[in-house]
Amino acid sequence: MPAIRPGAHGAVITGWGSAVPDTVVTNADLEKTIDTNDEWITSRTGIKERRVGGTTVGLSVESGRQALERSGVDPAAIDGLILATTTPDRVVPASSPVVQDQLGLSCGAFDVNAACSGFVYALVTAHGLIAMGAEKLLVIGTDTLARITDWTDRGTAPLFADGSGAVVLEATEGPGQLLGWDLDADGSAEKFLYCDVGGLIMMDGKEVFRRAVRIMVDSATKSMQHAGVTAEEISHVVPHQANIRIISAACDRLGIPLEKASLTIHRTGNTSSGSIPLALADSLDNSKIAPGDLVLLVGFGAGMTAASAILRWGGVS
Ligand code: UT7
Repeated sequence: MPAIRPGAHGAVITGWGSAVPDTVVTNADLEKTIDTNDEWITSRTGIKERRVGGTTVGLSVESGRQALERSGVDPAAIDGLILATTTPDRVVPASSPVVQDQLGLSCGAFDVNAACSGFVYALVTAHGLIAMGAEKLLVIGTDTLARITDWTDRGTAPLFADGSGAVVLEATEGPGQLLGWDLDADGSAEKFLYCDVGGLIMMDGKEVFRRAVRIMVDSATKSMQHAGVTAEEISHVVPHQANIRIISAACDRLGIPLEKASLTIHRTGNTSSGSIPLALADSLDNSKIAPGDLVLLVGFGAGMTAASAILRWGGVS
């Protein structure tokens, strides 16, 4: 993938929001229904509890509304909505037009499915639309994986959950926040993580783990090269919240201390397309990202896909 073309219109994130359902499922709850225990789940994944029970439209409207309010952008001024999701509420139509209607937007709306890499795919796509003249976009990442999780399978049930995060992206004079990006896919790895229409998630956890670290590191390295920055310069990493051991191993190989990573996995589990924007919103809400910081977003997911982006944070705090 190319570096940012000189002269492209830039964009900045001016608002963010997040949403999770009310119902909490703890590891102790899972102990009652499957052959597992809190010690195993915590040490193997980093997850202590997760939220379940939302709909993709409902969570998207909630996180999207927060992002709009924080940005101060009038919903009528939004030029486009991109919703990253691998769990639309219906096969047809996409969930994004329904979200568009409920948020009072009057613009184009489409879904992007790149599994857990989806939000970064959508964010990069949104930058492309701004480079072509759009002014204000709403980008949401939401998944409701609880509906496609086999709650009797101890290999997957502890991992997956529901959640959503959103950002408002606005055109700006000058180059904007995005300094480098990378979108990858390798469809030959489809068999390691998939869900048939009407089915449940099937996963070869060990193989996904093995590939995840490598493809996250490869994608992040490409983005840093495109941006012309080094790992030492990265102030904050927002990784896909799949497994604390994957995040830790990827940070280690990249030479970025784990202390620089957004970590929400202990209370959210893996919310797929929702995971990166949820973690980004959490870090912003807790003032862990400051103007001028170099932020790395990096994810991987079914496909298998990988995606990353380097942002120079600025403008809003
Ligand atoms: O967005 C991408 C989504 N997918 C992922 O990120 C998945 C990536 N993979 C993983 O996160 C890990 O592979 C898992 C967490 C799914 C599994 O961890 P692991 O360290 O690869 O465990 P394992 O499958 O090798 O199993 C180790 C042991 C086995 O017992 P033995 O054979 O050593 O006696 C399993 O039977 O742990 C046992 N085990 C469990 N024990 C308690 C497997 N699942 C459980 C469980 N509770 N839930």
